[in-house]
Amino acid sequence: MKYIKPYNNTKEKKTQIINMFNNISETYDLLNLMLSFRMDYIWRKKSIRHIKNNPQKILDIATGTADFAIMATKYTKAKIIGIDISNKMLKIGNKKIKKYKLSNRISLKLADAEKLPFKSNSFQAITSGFGVRNFESIETGLSEMYRVLDKEGVLVILEPSKPSIFPIKQLYNIYFTYILPLLGKIISKDKNAYRYLTNSVNAFPTKKIFLNKLKEIGFNKCKHIPLTFGIVSLYIAEK
Ligand SMILES: C[S@@+](CC[C@H](N)C(=O)[O-])C[C@H]1O[C@@H](n2cnc3c(N)ncnc32)[C@H](O)[C@@H]1O
Repeated sequence: MKYIKPYNNTKEKKTQIINMFNNISETYDLLNLMLSFRMDYIWRKKSIRHIKNNPQKILDIATGTADFAIMATKYTKAKIIGIDISNKMLKIGNKKIKKYKLSNRISLKLADAEKLPFKSNSFQAITSGFGVRNFESIETGLSEMYRVLDKEGVLVILEPSKPSIFPIKQLYNIYFTYILPLLGKIISKDKNAYRYLTNSVNAFPTKKIFLNKLKEIGFNKCKHIPLTFGIVSLYIAEK
């Protein structure tokens, strides 16, 4: 995924990703709601429900504006740490945490998923929503997840994917290639960000390859669950 970058310049992918999410942070939540027809809420809820090991501590990787972390407070009793490399996404996340009076449950930290500032075996569950695609190296990010996850801990990852059933595939292709980038460009005012979304989803490993990566890193019980006709993939694994 190193070569799929948002902007047409020579800066390394990580710098471009930070710039992009800082740029779109103010409109991110609104566009998420609009472009997914509010299904993003349902996808996160379904994912959290797979965490059944009563975790004390959850790490939400690429937490952005903290929606996954906020959802986790509803269905677990855990303390949640959310990390992200975009300070502006975290700023909005922090405002929401304050608004919903969740400061005693969630804390946010500026950190890189590919170099996590935590000891090994620290968390009983890890969540990551729509973040993995943006890593410079998926393998490094997944290895870090494995390292900080406690033994028998649960990993849940959400990523957009391409449906394969007729006519959803064809309709979704039109929406995802033409309508979504246009709406994204008009509302976020960043002409590249939502084009990058389409390109990076197209370049993301297939479910078979991604499940193999998880297994190679050491995860057990790796599972793929398609959500909403396969427009989103939920991956579940255990350490
Ligand atoms: C599409 S947003 C997802 C936000 C949130 N998880 C959600 O479900 O809405 C992707 C997030 O991944 C973050 N991100 C990308 N690469 C990262 C990395 N290497 N380490 C930490 N966060 C990263 C971005 O800054 C951005 O906030």
